[in-house]
Amino acid sequence: MHWSVVDVPDQTGRIAVVTGATSGLGLETAGVLARRGAQVFLACRDPGRAAAAAERLAAGAAFPPAVLTVDLADLGSVAAAAERLAEEVDHVDVLVNNAGIMAVPYARTVDGFESQLGTNHLGHFALTGHLLPLLLARGARVVTTSSQLHRLGVLDGDDPEGSGPYRPFSAYARSKLANLLFALELDRRATAHGAPIVSVAAHPGYAATNLARSGPARRAGRLGLAVTGLGERLLAQSAAGGALPQVRAATEPGVVGGTYFGPSGLFELRGQPVRVVPSRRARDLERAAALWAWSERASGVVYAWGTEDGTGT
Ligand SMILES: NC(=O)c1ccc[n+]([C@@H]2O[C@H](COP(=O)([O-])OP(=O)(O)OC[C@H]3O[C@@H](n4cnc5c(N)ncnc54)[C@H](OP(=O)(O)O)[C@@H]3O)[C@@H](O)[C@H]2O)c1
Repeated sequence: MHWSVVDVPDQTGRIAVVTGATSGLGLETAGVLARRGAQVFLACRDPGRAAAAAERLAAGAAFPPAVLTVDLADLGSVAAAAERLAEEVDHVDVLVNNAGIMAVPYARTVDGFESQLGTNHLGHFALTGHLLPLLLARGARVVTTSSQLHRLGVLDGDDPEGSGPYRPFSAYARSKLANLLFALELDRRATAHGAPIVSVAAHPGYAATNLARSGPARRAGRLGLAVTGLGERLLAQSAAGGALPQVRAATEPGVVGGTYFGPSGLFELRGQPVRVVPSRRARDLERAAALWAWSERASGVVYAWGTEDGTGT
C-alpha cells in the first residue's frame, strides 16, 4: 500500500524530539513533524548547524523548531540536555533516536567508549533514560533508527565494544544491531512495567545523505566520493524517501510496540515504508538483556519506571 507524508496525521499539540536533525533523515523527519503541527526540538551537537536547520524548517512549521544542544558522544552533555528540556516542557510525545556516525576511524567518546557504539547506541540509551519521566508523563512513541547493516553486526551483550582489532564497518554494524536490540528491549520493559511507551524501530534502506559522504567516502578521497555519488544515483533513495520508515514509525496511529519499519523494495534498499523483520540476532532476548545491563553500568543511567523500588530494571 502506498504511504507518504500526506498520510501523517495532524501532529498539532504534540511535542517531538529528533536527534541528529541538522541533515539527512533527521532534518527530513523533523521537517515533516513540524509541518504537520508538532512542536519539534532539534537535538543536535552543533548549535550553529542546528540553528540553520531550525531556520530552514521554520518556514512551513506551525511552531518554529527549537534547538536542544546535545552531544551524544558526551554523557554529561546528554544529561544536561535532558535537564534543560525538562525545564521547558512537561512531557514528550515522540522521541526519534536518529543521529549517527558511520565507519569513522577509531576514536573514543568523551567518556571513553568506542565512538560508534558510544554515539549511536549508548548516547541514545542515556538520552531515552534521562527523558523517561517526560516520556511517561502522557505516553510516548520512541523510534530508534537502525540499518540493514545490523544484519552483519556481531555483538556480545556483556562486551559490546568488542575486544578484537577495530574494523570501522564492523563497529558500525555492531552499533546498529545495538540500536535494534535496544528498541525491542525497551518495548518489552515498558510492557512489563505497564508503562505507556511504545518503542519501535526503523531503517531507511540506502538514502543519499551526509552519512557516507562525511565518513568513509571522504577518507577515500575524490575517487571515494565519486563512487559514493554513483552508488547513490543508481541505488539510493532521497533523504526524504529514506526518512519515511521512521516518520511512519513515529506517527502512524496504533503501531504495535516492537514493530520495525523499512523500505519495501529489493533488499530493503528503497521503496515504500512497510513493516520489516529484524534479524534473529536482533531478537535474541539474552543478548538484549545483557546489552541493557552493560548500558546501565556504562552510562550510569538506570531507567526509573516509577515502580515500587523506583529503579525498575
Ligand atoms: N543514509 C543511509 O543510507 C542510512 C542507512 C542506514 C541507516 N542510517 C542511519 O540513519 C541515521 C541518520 O543518518 P543520515 O543518513 O541522515 O546521516 P547524516 O546526514 O550524516 O546525519 C547524521 C546526523 O547525526 C548527527 N550526529 C552525529 N554525531 C552526533 C553526536 N555525537 N551528537 C549529536 N548528533 C550527532 C549529525 O550531526 P552533525 O551535523 O553535527 O554532524 C547529523 O545531524 C543514522 O543513525 C544512520 O546510522 C542511514
